[in-house]
Amino acid sequence: MTGSISDITARRVWDSRGNPTVEVEIATAGGARGRAIAPAGASRGTREAIDLRDGGDKLSGMDVQHAVANVRELIAPALVGLDATDQTAADRAILALDDSALKDRLGGNATVAASLAVMHAGAAAKSVPLWRHCADLAGAEPSLPLPEIQIFGGGAHAGRRVDIQDFMVMVPGATSFDEVMEITSEVYRAAGSLMGQKGNLAGVADEGGWWPIFDHNEEALETLVRAIELAGETPGDRVVISLDVAASEFGSQGRYRLALEDRELGRDELIRLLGRWLDDYPIMSIEDPLAEDDRDGMQAFTREFGNRVQIIGDDYLVTNATLLEEAVADRACNAVLIKVNQAGTVTESLDCLRAAKSAGYGTIVSARSGETEDVSISHMAVGFGAAQLKVGSFTRSERMAKWNECLRIGDMLGAGSFVAGQPLATTTWAHKAKGAA
Ligand code: PGA
Ligand code: ZN
Repeated sequence: MTGSISDITARRVWDSRGNPTVEVEIATAGGARGRAIAPAGASRGTREAIDLRDGGDKLSGMDVQHAVANVRELIAPALVGLDATDQTAADRAILALDDSALKDRLGGNATVAASLAVMHAGAAAKSVPLWRHCADLAGAEPSLPLPEIQIFGGGAHAGRRVDIQDFMVMVPGATSFDEVMEITSEVYRAAGSLMGQKGNLAGVADEGGWWPIFDHNEEALETLVRAIELAGETPGDRVVISLDVAASEFGSQGRYRLALEDRELGRDELIRLLGRWLDDYPIMSIEDPLAEDDRDGMQAFTREFGNRVQIIGDDYLVTNATLLEEAVADRACNAVLIKVNQAGTVTESLDCLRAAKSAGYGTIVSARSGETEDVSISHMAVGFGAAQLKVGSFTRSERMAKWNECLRIGDMLGAGSFVAGQPLATTTWAHKAKGAA
């Protein structure tokens, strides 16, 4: 069996924040190789797989020697001899060592790097591009996703300088992926020059978006609308706005503290505020509008706005099929972010993706704020047939590598692989949700 895993190595490498992370490299008996690196989040959901960190004084406790050792000593012996093309069997072997949702024995950083490395080795063993192998695993038709691209960073990615975490644009009106890149680049430049002129530019945030100095959260929306106009576009026409509120970062138990504006909002007040933004700005997608523990809030928000805007669960769903199914039953959210390191393995991520697709939920493959040169997610987004891809902003090579990889894949896929005018996930529950009344 040429795909038989013969050798696994793990090493410590470094991510875009200069933090240590885990890289795994796999070789098969037939000479195929696969390599992958674990990403790392900063605004993490409490129910997602943990990154195993060593603690202590060195490197602020962020070292990953235990996770690297877990790959070498526990995961490697369990994978040797398995077929790299059989992702399910490989992930099952990893889960036999640690099937906890949090992966707190092995570390999600160890499991995800190993699982992704198997996926790369599987593609190499089949001599097909990674996106093709991903499509085989997902049983999906490959297509280029619509990008969601950050213009300003906030929240945990910009010293909490604004409360809302991501102010992004999407270009559903573009006719090609390349056109999305060009239009976004113009908007990004326009935003930077506007902010520079007004003195509200502090630098660049964790995902490459501008690090703003704003007095209130809405100033970011106003500036973004002006930037879209300065780029020669009509806001809400080809270019729309997408927000990641990441509300778990500033609220729990139905109370939300907007530190920038020095005020605390109840659940209903936050819903009203966001509802007004949906009325006043061309926002087509909103992620984690309420906190991960605010089931009532997420249900109420979806009830009110789910038929006109995409509502994504990130911290709320943590790429977990069971939580996704609960949300479907609850009629909460209408789309899910797929972050492979939240689940901990490719197979668990695919379980969530399948559950989402069968419920009619939108699917958005996403990077983390701590990233590397690893471009696995570009291939996953294409191969899994995900509607969208979110990898941060339009600067810094750990971000651009993923956009550029999509351009290369697009050339392989040929014309028609980017669906222009792609509708975003919105639902009227009556006809989309499974079991809806
Ligand atoms: P994280 O944030 O990678 O820092 O957790 C990204 C997101 O919330 O989408
Ligand atoms: Zn998020």
